[in-house]
Amino acid sequence: MIDYTEKIPNNVDLGRDRVLQRALEHWQPAYMSWWYDMGPTESHNYEVYLRTAITVEPDGWAKFGYVRMPEYRWGIFLQPRNVERTVTFGTHKGDPAWQEVPGEYRSTLRRVIVTQCDTEPASVEQQRMLGMCCPSLYDLRNIFQVNVEEGRHLWAMVYLLHRYFGRDGREEAEALLERRSGDVDNPRILGAFNEPTPDWLAFYMFTFFTDRDGKFQLSALAESGFDPLARTCRFMLTEEAHHMFVGETGVSRILQRTCEVMREHKVEMPGDVRALGVIDLETMQKYLNFHYSVTIDLFGSDASSNAATYYTTGLKGRYDETKIEDDHVLAEEVYPLFEVVGNKIVEKKVPALTALNERLRDDYIHEIQAGVDRWNRVIENAGISFRLRLPHKGFHRAIGNFAGHFISPDGEVLTKEAWQNHERDWLPAPEDHAFVQSLMTGRVVEPGKFANWIAPPIRGINGQPLNFEYVRFN
Ligand SMILES: [Fe+2]
Ligand SMILES: [Fe+2]
Repeated sequence: MIDYTEKIPNNVDLGRDRVLQRALEHWQPAYMSWWYDMGPTESHNYEVYLRTAITVEPDGWAKFGYVRMPEYRWGIFLQPRNVERTVTFGTHKGDPAWQEVPGEYRSTLRRVIVTQCDTEPASVEQQRMLGMCCPSLYDLRNIFQVNVEEGRHLWAMVYLLHRYFGRDGREEAEALLERRSGDVDNPRILGAFNEPTPDWLAFYMFTFFTDRDGKFQLSALAESGFDPLARTCRFMLTEEAHHMFVGETGVSRILQRTCEVMREHKVEMPGDVRALGVIDLETMQKYLNFHYSVTIDLFGSDASSNAATYYTTGLKGRYDETKIEDDHVLAEEVYPLFEVVGNKIVEKKVPALTALNERLRDDYIHEIQAGVDRWNRVIENAGISFRLRLPHKGFHRAIGNFAGHFISPDGEVLTKEAWQNHERDWLPAPEDHAFVQSLMTGRVVEPGKFANWIAPPIRGINGQPLNFEYVRFN
């Protein structure tokens, strides 16, 4: 169980390390002032029906109750230690997992942690205005839940920085509160986390696509030979599952509502669908194209010597590393990558060690495809022939072998002119954003009511009815 009488709730016996505890208690007010500045707009007096972690055991790990968000108990929770755990891959395979940072990997490991951690506060910043135009109390509560847990993920990683990286770690922890999503002078580290999340469709797409990038990165880090990182990431994954649920069901509910309206009014043309106050399927596809392409960039270059280093040194594994049947060293293996040669996309085999980013991206794409298939079932069940699809993985890429090329959703290599002629068909144009935002000008806060453009969910949170007062505004 987690001790909530502590100033900083934790299961790492923080009270035993006075210096560390004091350092974190010093960081805490800076964190709170970041939350007041950059957390959800106007939310400070709301009481929100939130879940809070109470143990790290998988069953019954959280409790639900009303919390004023600034009083949410952000804490440090690591999966319990398995004393027999070993490094399961790379050149240290078979050694006992490290409980302290190996000196020679210190700066690499710090960079890995900071890069992951930076995404946590970034998404809170990106989403901070959305509460003002929520489609229901249920959805408002869900975004706040996601926000407080991203804040907790920041705490989880900052603990590692403070505990294991000394002064450099403390400086990094401060810098994490100073960068701002989209800021020209001091932006967040990764591209997708500087894109605005201007509306609820973007929010659901983000939590489906981009939080799932988080899942795959955390899963790879949960394999780390550095045991405290592995244990931290394992517990973060428990919380992450809800974020992806919010995204997947959010998009699904929009599709369901659109299809209902299309059937009821026997309309198909996007203009006619829009005129009925719901989001046309073509716009859904464009948002999907955008969020998918910027998110798969987050996995990094297709061939990467850094990725190889992270693996051979035992710092970052593959997705489900211990379930893969091979030698977990990969010195002899190859993996297929794609590159653009002339006007063709050609496959090329490279050493598997250098292709680990691409491999993680492929694992991710596989899971994403299953989600898109579930969305398509909603459309199919409504008797509508439209289908959503993932664009080619070279589409609209800014990082890796496809960067600088113009690839259509079908995987054709185009000239810049040809691409520009179609860009508005493939990616949301300013008018598309304007239309979506025109549906979301105010918030729907009457318990049990939902905006016209989205269907209610199948069930409420934690067994509560749909008309439950998930947020009290006071
Ligand atoms: Fe997170
Ligand atoms: Fe998340």
